[in-house]
This record gives sequence, C-alpha cells and structure tokens, in this order.
Amino acid sequence: MQRIGVLTSGGDSSGMNAAIRAVVRKAIYHGLEVIGIRRGYTGFVEADMDPMNLGSVADIVHRGGTILRTARSEVFSTPEGRKKAYDNVKRFGLQGLVVIGGDGSFRGALAFHKEYGLPVMGVPGTIDNDINGTDYSIGFDTAVNTVVDAVNKIRDTATSHERTFIIEVMGRESGNIALHAGLASGAETIMIPEVPLGIDDICEKLNRGHRRGKLHSIIIVAEGAASGIEIGRLIKEKTGFDTKVTILGHIQRGGTPTAFDRILASSLGAKAVELLMKGEKNKMVGMVSGKVVSKDLQEAISSSKNIAMDMYDLAGILSI
Ligand code: F6P
Repeated sequence: MQRIGVLTSGGDSSGMNAAIRAVVRKAIYHGLEVIGIRRGYTGFVEADMDPMNLGSVADIVHRGGTILRTARSEVFSTPEGRKKAYDNVKRFGLQGLVVIGGDGSFRGALAFHKEYGLPVMGVPGTIDNDINGTDYSIGFDTAVNTVVDAVNKIRDTATSHERTFIIEVMGRESGNIALHAGLASGAETIMIPEVPLGIDDICEKLNRGHRRGKLHSIIIVAEGAASGIEIGRLIKEKTGFDTKVTILGHIQRGGTPTAFDRILASSLGAKAVELLMKGEKNKMVGMVSGKVVSKDLQEAISSSKNIAMDMYDLAGILSI
C-alpha cells in the first residue's frame, strides 16, 4: 500500500483534528502518502483533495472542528456520485480510505466498498456516542464536559432565583449526552429518546422535591426526547413553578477537545492506518474496556448501541 485518503464526514466533533493528525503522521511514519479529502464525501465526488504532509497537521491536536471540513453529502448516496468518487480514486491512486464520522458516514463507506472494492476503515467520530463496537466515539467526552460546565453555571442562577431549569441538549436519536451529563451534574430528571417519560411523572417528582424544601431543579432533555421549550411550558402550566429553558445547541459540537478525546482520536486514527497497511478492510476501530479494537463495519452499523440502563436507573436513584 502506497497511498491512502482521509476524510471527515457528517456532524463534526471535537477531536476529529487529532484523528486526522494521527492518520497523516502514522501513515507518513510508515512511508505512505496521504491525500486529504475536503468536505467529506462531497469533496470525494468533486475531487476536492490534496496531498498532506507532516506540516499540514501541525498545531491542530487541540483544536475543535475539522481542518478537512465536513458535509452530509446527498450526491454520494447516488450511484452516479459514487462513480465520480471512484474516478477520483483512480486519478489520485488511492489504495485505502479512512473515514472519520458516524454511522451514516460508515454506511456510505461500505456501499462504496461493495461497488468498487476500495478498502475502507471507519474511525468513530460523533458527539452522540451511538456507534456499536466502541465504548466511546471521538467528541462525546468533550460534548458531555461542555454540558456539565453549562449546567454548573445554570445551577448557580437556578439556586439564587429558586427556579426550575429545563436544559435541552443534542441527541436526535440518542440520549447518551443527556444521560452522562445528567448523572455528572446531578440533574433531577433526564429525558432521553430511549425511555418514554410522562409529563405528569416529571411534575410529580418536582412537587415531591418542593414539598421536601427543594427550591430549584435541573431537568435535562435530549432533543430527540422532547422539545425543551414545550416541556418548560407544560411544567410551568402544571406546577406554577418559575421555569426557564436553555437550549445548548451547537456549542456541544465545538471547543478544544478534552485530553480523553485527543488520546482516543490519536489511538484510533493510528490504528486505522495500521490495519489498512496489514491488508485489512471494512473495519471500524474502537475502544472497548480501555483497549483499541476493531470490528466489521457491517456489524458496527447493523444495529444501534443500547443505552446504559443501569446508569439511567442510578441517575434516578441518586436524584430522588
Ligand atoms: O450527530 C451529531 C448531532 O450533533 C446530533 O446530536 C444532532 O441532532 C445533529 O448532529 C445536528 O445536526 P446539524 O449539524 O445538522 O445541526
């Protein structure tokens, strides 16, 4: 193997830059050439790609976002788009491709492999942490810490004003950010798409706390579970408590990656290159029980990761 490509695809996540750096430097260390593909599969189709060198990835290990930029490509989901991408594989002499992204990006990689045979390697990068086969995806830890930091600040003002705060976090289909941040920040209630929770139960818990002398409350809502604004309106209507809503939004996707995410990204990016060099293909690298592992890409995308129900139950017990 002489030349590989690397791209970031889907929603960005902090630590993607550290992963790009690891792919590029590990590959160059072993004498390979690396082509950086911009704007995910869009750049793959449009030949928006250039060779990278050691300097291309200098000074990025600590930066959020992705220097290669990213996109959710419509055109790559069509056979015509993938054919154009394959023309670029031949034009640039790519013999393998590292895709840093989430399950949608991995589906695209696998479809491309099935049609054109290019060995692909997936590196999980999404704040949602919803990918099977890895305990953590790149960017999740940073996003959780961002939420916890915000909740700390909101808690100060919630206490001062004796208010109930609804904090909406990201996660259209996954409650992982809400669950981890909720447990870490001592939220009274955590709403996640995986576990339906009625508004009356939430209000009953708030009222119970109030009767016990609790003067403020924090409720964390994953965007896929309910609208924070709607929950705030209902709580105010049913309890009469002074209720405020904060939607954290895309601040969860940016910012300097935590040390954990940098180490995860560096380890997984390097492993992806190592596996391609060994002739492996269509794998996803991951971290399981502290060890770097790999599994079939097909298996990784064939079902979604289960939420840690023991953690959810614990959060409920501790916030009683
Ligand atoms: O997949 C990551 C994620 O941040 C989700 O948590 C969120 O629902 C979605 O992306 C938002 O996507 P967009 O970039 O289109 O706003």
